[in-house]
Amino acid sequence: MPFEELKARHSVVWGTGPYERVSATIADLQDDLVTRLEPAPGLRWLDSATGTGETAKRAARAGADVVGLDIAPALIDTARREAADEGLEIQYDVGDSEALPYGDASFDAISSSCGVMFAPDHDAVARELTRVCRPGGRIGLACWRPDSTLAEIFRIQADFQPAPPPPGIGSPFDWGREEHVTELLEDGFDLEFHSLESLLVMPAAEDAWELFSTSYGPTKTLADSLDEGPREELRRRFVELHARYDDGSGVRMPRTYLLTLGTRR
Ligand SMILES: C[S@@+](CC[C@H](N)C(=O)[O-])C[C@H]1O[C@@H](n2cnc3c(N)ncnc32)[C@H](O)[C@@H]1O
Repeated sequence: MPFEELKARHSVVWGTGPYERVSATIADLQDDLVTRLEPAPGLRWLDSATGTGETAKRAARAGADVVGLDIAPALIDTARREAADEGLEIQYDVGDSEALPYGDASFDAISSSCGVMFAPDHDAVARELTRVCRPGGRIGLACWRPDSTLAEIFRIQADFQPAPPPPGIGSPFDWGREEHVTELLEDGFDLEFHSLESLLVMPAAEDAWELFSTSYGPTKTLADSLDEGPREELRRRFVELHARYDDGSGVRMPRTYLLTLGTRR
């Protein structure tokens, strides 16, 4: 079953580097997402595909009762350690956004910051979001758009990958299209959409390569798998993309995303 094979791979790939370094570069997106979902003491909150838990921590700091779930055990280890260091009580679970280990209507608020978009079975993700959100509860999903610079990075990477994904696997960036998300979620939620931008700020384009090739699972795994020639070519194209956004004082690269807000009927 291609979905299961891909997810087994994801659980390793995403955990190969210190992903928290990359997550720190979307702090603006995480702040905005959590603020819009209005965390409050006692609110039952799920952060699905939480990674190292940065969005979950924001909700917990505001008093919500937070559960964070991710498929990559190594990232959940980091999330648990960081929450403990900060004295935050967050339940972190290793699990699959396509088959959540929680009862129906368990949560008042559900967030995902560039997270569930990477699970291969979009219908299953939508079904589970709908199932575990209580009537009147809210969801907030921040997902990179197909025309974003993040999608461009994945297109560059695809040129170096041995085989395209198996048929039937949806593109993660479809979650950045209003029509696709409407199709997935309109039966269960009243939806609204916002087109927003997160800014990547780096001293230089080379620093973006250093960050992604050591700390962003998909880029690191690909770079580590390549021989010297193709690896150097991947580095060159990655740096060239980021250098386009350097006006001489450093990289300021906009990354557009679709924020979906929904209220469960
Ligand atoms: C780009 S990271 C985003 C992490 C985090 N939400 C953040 O704000 O930094 C994508 C995350 O999705 C997780 N993921 C991918 N497929 C998943 C699945 N089927 N179930 C749960 N998590 C998944 C990965 O392990 C990774 O942590």
